[in-house]
Amino acid sequence: MSTQINSYIAANKDRFLNELLDLLRIPSVSADPKYKNDVLKTADAVKEKLISAGADKVELCQTPGYPIVYGEKIISESLPTVLVYGHYDVQPADPLNLWTSPPFEPVIKDGNIYARGSCDDKGQVYMHVKAFEAMMKTNSLPCNVKFMIEGEEEVGSANLGNFIKANKKVLEADVVLISDTSILANNIPSITVGLRGLAYMEVEVTGPNRDLHSGVYGGAVANPINVLAEMIASLKDKNGKITIPGFYKDVEIVSKKERAEMAKAPFSLNAYKKELQIGDIRGEKGYTAPELTSIRPALDVNGIWGGYTGDGAKTVLPSKAYAKISMRLVPHQNSDKISNLFEKHFKKIAPKSVKVKVTALHGGEGCVTPTDSVAYAAASQAMHDTFKKKPIPVRSGGSIPIVALFEKELKVKSVLMGFGLDSDDIHSPNEHYGVFNYFKGIETIPLFFKYFTEMSK
Ligand code: BES
Ligand code: MN
Ligand code: MN
Repeated sequence: MSTQINSYIAANKDRFLNELLDLLRIPSVSADPKYKNDVLKTADAVKEKLISAGADKVELCQTPGYPIVYGEKIISESLPTVLVYGHYDVQPADPLNLWTSPPFEPVIKDGNIYARGSCDDKGQVYMHVKAFEAMMKTNSLPCNVKFMIEGEEEVGSANLGNFIKANKKVLEADVVLISDTSILANNIPSITVGLRGLAYMEVEVTGPNRDLHSGVYGGAVANPINVLAEMIASLKDKNGKITIPGFYKDVEIVSKKERAEMAKAPFSLNAYKKELQIGDIRGEKGYTAPELTSIRPALDVNGIWGGYTGDGAKTVLPSKAYAKISMRLVPHQNSDKISNLFEKHFKKIAPKSVKVKVTALHGGEGCVTPTDSVAYAAASQAMHDTFKKKPIPVRSGGSIPIVALFEKELKVKSVLMGFGLDSDDIHSPNEHYGVFNYFKGIETIPLFFKYFTEMSK
């Protein structure tokens, strides 16, 4: 069967690539209301592509936010069902001046497709649409498939939980297949088996009731930016541990044995430092970089602002300072609980000279996915076939909160078979996705379907 699929893919290579470029031209930035029409246009485009690939019951499911594209091909009740999840929305492209080509005018350079969303996640979603088309057109879809492609992943999937709860029957499946993660390298395939959770906070620190002259008042009146900086600095101790009381209480202790297993995945600290042009890494003492970004939680300021930031100097003692602070969580830490601990602590450490407001913007739980399941074995075999190497299981530091929800609400586990690279600059300027990776995905997905069906018998 696979030679037939492969010939189909080869014969349609240029079209598969050009169609993705068309999809990348629509700026589906979910965070910015300015792009509302484009996000909706992208949902329509995904819907049309699913229809022409051969899906049934394709519809835009309305939510209070952006629609979820649903489609399916049910061939028999007695066959297993794969639910494919992905997202058609993308991160904002800012800062625009750092892009070497415009983010929504895709170009192919040195084997990479440069565009916002090329890897995260339009490129990886579109691999599934094209793999499905290839299976349909060659009469080789071996089992049932359902697609659920959402448009609010990059803003926290606020409406997806309700959608899942309200559509449990429709979404019933034996496995969720997601391509929204990375492999270690193009010659080192890997399958993601863990993701971190997230608690994302915004804080507002208010000093005096209005901006003041920094000469007339400076020295006596608390400067909220200074205070905010001190407060943030105190959130970690000298060993890089987060100081919020109770923060580590539920952190899963990964055994020495499992850590030794993880350490087998190839990693070069020197290459890591060189690639990022950093003199050293910085984190909790006693852990390696791959551990710090997967099995340990992290706290990072994502943005900080206040006062005068324009050209030249303005002497001002500002009234307000703000920061956006994210905490990446590990399995068993609960994002609501951590948000509450953060809020309580942040208010407690504020000096009397300022007022503090804390808002939780979004959150989600981490996950670990099984390596002893039929679905994992199928993904492993499929990647082994296409990469000629057995993929390594690795935990990743990013978050896809819906994975934990799928498990909780639908009682179905996910396989995170992504094809990106950590160096693809997702969420950054010059996001790119390898043409190699795009087609590897299109070739590997039908094999996953084949092995999953065979192994489920
Ligand atoms: N695809 C990413 C998550 C990801 C990236 C997982 C790389 C593993 C490796 C996803 O689109 C994403 O960016 N998620 C957000 C969380 C969300 C709640 C905004 C994240 O991780 O910041
Ligand atoms: Mn993504
Ligand atoms: Mn993302």
